[in-house]
Amino acid sequence: MDRIRVGFVGTGRISDLHAIEYLSNPHAEIVALCDRDASLAERRARVWGLDSPLITDDYHELVGHDTVDLVEVLLPHHLHLEAALAALEAGKAVSVQKPMCTSVADADRMVEAARGAPGPLRVFENFVFYPPVVQAKSLIDDGAIGEPLTIRIKSNPGRSETEWDVPAASRAWRQDIDQIGGGPLVLDDGHHKFALAWYFMGPAEEVHAWIGHTTAPDGFVFDAPSMVSFRFPGNRYGNLEIVYSPELDIVTEHYAQDDRIEITGTRGVIWVNRGHGQLGADVVPVQLFRDGVLTDYRDVETGWETSFVYSTRHCIEALRNGSQPQLSGKDGRDILRFAFAAEESARAGGAVRL
Ligand SMILES: NC(=O)c1ccc[n+]([C@@H]2O[C@H](COP(=O)([O-])OP(=O)(O)OC[C@H]3O[C@@H](n4cnc5c(N)ncnc54)[C@H](O)[C@@H]3O)[C@@H](O)[C@H]2O)c1
Repeated sequence: MDRIRVGFVGTGRISDLHAIEYLSNPHAEIVALCDRDASLAERRARVWGLDSPLITDDYHELVGHDTVDLVEVLLPHHLHLEAALAALEAGKAVSVQKPMCTSVADADRMVEAARGAPGPLRVFENFVFYPPVVQAKSLIDDGAIGEPLTIRIKSNPGRSETEWDVPAASRAWRQDIDQIGGGPLVLDDGHHKFALAWYFMGPAEEVHAWIGHTTAPDGFVFDAPSMVSFRFPGNRYGNLEIVYSPELDIVTEHYAQDDRIEITGTRGVIWVNRGHGQLGADVVPVQLFRDGVLTDYRDVETGWETSFVYSTRHCIEALRNGSQPQLSGKDGRDILRFAFAAEESARAGGAVRL
């Protein structure tokens, strides 16, 4: 495939960030849009300036269309499996948004289906393509902090004057356990954080969690404050702290959430100081402390949309050269298992071995 022709299934909130790279990459083109609200798909086509795309409210029509090489599944979670299976069966490459499924058993089914299909299947995970994260990983791989020993990840939703508009329908399905599959912060957003832990430290062996609940002024119930701890092979540890702070003002153009990471090694410490948004105007995206010196890395792209741009660019390049784009179905499945283990642990009141 030299020019990747993509069809979006689901043209809701997040499709805007998926479109950015497809609209500017000379090796890609958006040729089809599907949404059960076809008028929304039509609106997106107009705003994105698409040239006569297929518009449909039935994803079976989209996945069966011979102009489509790659199907982007951008649906509520309970629909991911069915849509991905249909696309794989139709011989298409599939990029399915995280979390890939609402159970590990369904993720296994998706991985199995991809094994026998032309595919490939990839799970869309953008945080591991976010430039400050990639910069931190590259410094660590170059030995900047010695051997990494622990990772601390923080998810901190709050409020924002500058956040983007999130339609009520887009929030509503995230309060229905049958559609979302788990907690909005521990499972849905948590997928990103478990992917980060996996990216920096490798697969975890054991998980232990407490999950609390807080109701926001608009009635949305967050699965926070929550604390998830994990152990990696080789005497290495990590945790994910999730706090919803209703009166904390976040600087953002997207979701009202701040994300931070701290990785401690045998001779240094590295920080990623922002993600969806940031605390205050002048946040240094990446900092390294080593040999008594604190170094700021300011020359890094920081817009959260860049994580989507680089994740999408990576997928286009992988499809063009016939390699497996990240995350593979198996990696997505393992990260999903990690996230579900946190919920299992909180329910059972003890550690869960992976
Ligand atoms: N990577 C990230 O940071 C990130 C951020 C937000 C959302 N997401 C993921 O993207 C996906 C979509 O999330 P969203 O926020 O855009 O949701 P959304 O509710 O805004 O959009 C979903 C769209 O799917 C459409 N839809 C529902 N059922 C359908 C069906 N049967 N056929 C066709 N269309 C149907 C809806 O009409 C809606 O327009 C989810 O998997 C979510 O986890 C990822």
